Amino acid sequence: MQKTVLVTGGTGYIGSHTVVKLIEAGYKNVLFEDFSNSKPKVLERIEQITGVRPAFVQGDVRSLEDLKKVFDNWKIDSVIHFAGKKAVGESEREPLLYFSVNVEGSIVLLNTMKDYGVKEFVFSSSATVYGDPGYDEFDESTPLAPINNYGLSKWMVEEILRATYKADPTWSIALLRYFNPVGAHPSGLIGEDPNGIPNNLMPFIAQVAVGKREKLMVFGNDYPTRDGTGCRDYIHVQDLAEGHIKALEALNSKPQLLTVNLGTGNNTSVLELVKAFEKASGRKINYEIAPRRAGDKAAYWTNPSLALKLLGWKTKFGIDEMCADTWKWQQLNPNGYPD
Ligand code: UD1
Repeated sequence: MQKTVLVTGGTGYIGSHTVVKLIEAGYKNVLFEDFSNSKPKVLERIEQITGVRPAFVQGDVRSLEDLKKVFDNWKIDSVIHFAGKKAVGESEREPLLYFSVNVEGSIVLLNTMKDYGVKEFVFSSSATVYGDPGYDEFDESTPLAPINNYGLSKWMVEEILRATYKADPTWSIALLRYFNPVGAHPSGLIGEDPNGIPNNLMPFIAQVAVGKREKLMVFGNDYPTRDGTGCRDYIHVQDLAEGHIKALEALNSKPQLLTVNLGTGNNTSVLELVKAFEKASGRKINYEIAPRRAGDKAAYWTNPSLALKLLGWKTKFGIDEMCADTWKWQQLNPNGYPD
């Protein structure tokens, strides 16, 4: 029987790529979105790629009334919860906003699910829940010690989900801790479309390549790494989206609480990513060395073995594909999605 998945934040960066995979895997989707950090155009692009226009409700995850429009009209089998605020700097300036949208929003959503008897839940967590444990290869037993409000909000929701499962083990819950998602759909029709100046490295590099920004600031070249610049575990958004399909399949096989890191196990420095992007785009990426950014760790990546064991999932794409697909998206959409 065809399952129906509610995808909150379904037109966002990771949400939209996951919706495409869900449609391809035979799921029916209902998207729930407030468009605070995404565009309605994404719905059209999803239809262009898959031939299917997903059902869609506009609303706020903190509003029971808005959520009821979904649960009263569709028989939902599972929920993938992407909707949330995700900028670390902003979370330090606006803590209440982050705790309201990310934590309160999750509670309202989970309560609504409970009322309607829906107990399958996939949560977008983040490697940010780990903070800095004093070593670089994180696994799922690495202590949770977030160092910013964004990370704290993800950790709080994780705790709420652990408590929910403990009180009622008929829930089936996946906590997916993402490393650094980059890349785009190979069609170039959907991709990352940050508001304003990008906070993250890959979209910044892509905007330099396309001529939107003059140069990249490399935040520190005196870290104890191969070339002195920060190293991260970049994961292709297509692999990440696939990880959600595998998590849903696992949750469906038996009620459980599943916690996995989603990353490649590799790491790439800032300057290595610049080189790879130059190769993929044929463009020169101008950069300048700048001071370290506060709160940045020199290097971290995941040990990817638990995801393979529990989900039968591992990444397929490397840095070259991540850059090539980002470049295709950026070239076709130099100013992001049209309004
Ligand atoms: C950031 C967030 C993290 C979030 C992740 C999503 C912070 C402190 N952390 O991680 O919570 O889950 O994005 O992908 O913001 N860099 C530059 N110049 C730039 C931008 C970045 O040199 O203009 C460097 C950084 O110092 C870092 C690397 O590039 O070494 C990656 O940075 P970024 O893409 O922002 O990701 P994270 O900081 O790892």
